[in-house]
Amino acid sequence: MSRLQGKVAIITGGAGGIGAATARRFCEEGAAVLVVDLLTSPLDDVVGQVRELVPGARVVGLAADLAEEPAATVVVQQALEHFGQIDVLVNNAGVRAYEPLAEARAETWQRILAVNLLSYAFLTREALPSLRASGRGAVVNISSTHAFHARAGMAQYDVAKAGIISMTRSLAFEESVHGVRANAVCPGLTLTPFHVKRAAAQGKTEQDLRTAVVGNNLQKRWADPREIAHPIVWLASDEASFVNGAALMVDGGTVDS
Ligand SMILES: NC(=O)c1ccc[n+]([C@@H]2O[C@H](COP(=O)([O-])OP(=O)(O)OC[C@H]3O[C@@H](n4cnc5c(N)ncnc54)[C@H](O)[C@@H]3O)[C@@H](O)[C@H]2O)c1
Repeated sequence: MSRLQGKVAIITGGAGGIGAATARRFCEEGAAVLVVDLLTSPLDDVVGQVRELVPGARVVGLAADLAEEPAATVVVQQALEHFGQIDVLVNNAGVRAYEPLAEARAETWQRILAVNLLSYAFLTREALPSLRASGRGAVVNISSTHAFHARAGMAQYDVAKAGIISMTRSLAFEESVHGVRANAVCPGLTLTPFHVKRAAAQGKTEQDLRTAVVGNNLQKRWADPREIAHPIVWLASDEASFVNGAALMVDGGTVDS
């Protein structure tokens, strides 16, 4: 387990389901990791858990609101201060909104675009000098199957996720000459604490979610966050040295309804 030995990574949204699993997997593979999230307490929990589960893990938490452009500078400064280099950036932070376009409010659009799209752009821009200096820099942006598969009710989120795919491709075209690869991962339904809490509010348990048949993928189930983290590790690693500008579907095989 040394795919990321000697590498330093920034992972955003690290207090959430996929981000936490990714932070752990990165440490298991030997990376030093700066985990960034808006929420201090769950972030501290994740950092503590990773240290407990991965002996010798080099992991540090940083609370920051990535919706604010200046946070990107602070995140990069902190990564360099702690670890001296940046080789991998995983842009994973995300928020959701459930407004049909007919009712979509300006503040919701602004929030979704600020967190789900612009934070990726600003942090990438600030990290690029270090990623270029790495000589094997990698950006992994977390999009969604819904960048490609339409549905009703979450257009603001889905638009941002489609924007991530486009930005990832542009970044690959601009940065390959500097030795930086850029790829996107498009997770399908992944069971995280967010979904468990949301289900609880509707009177459903985690077990109810797990046993319900999921109709939108060939495997008829939710993904575990680690099943998303594994391909993120691979895309960040030198094993994916010829993978650039890709959008990797990690969705159990989406079935369009
Ligand atoms: N879980 C799924 O089914 C699924 C499917 C497709 C795509 N995704 C995407 O994967 C990523 C991770 O999803 P998840 O399910 O783990 O979500 P999550 O809600 O568990 O985690 C997202 C994290 O981002 C953090 N965050 C939100 N706003 C922030 C801000 N302004 N600054 C810093 N951090 C902020 C949250 O605090 C949270 O910890 C997201 O981009 C999400 O859109 C998830």
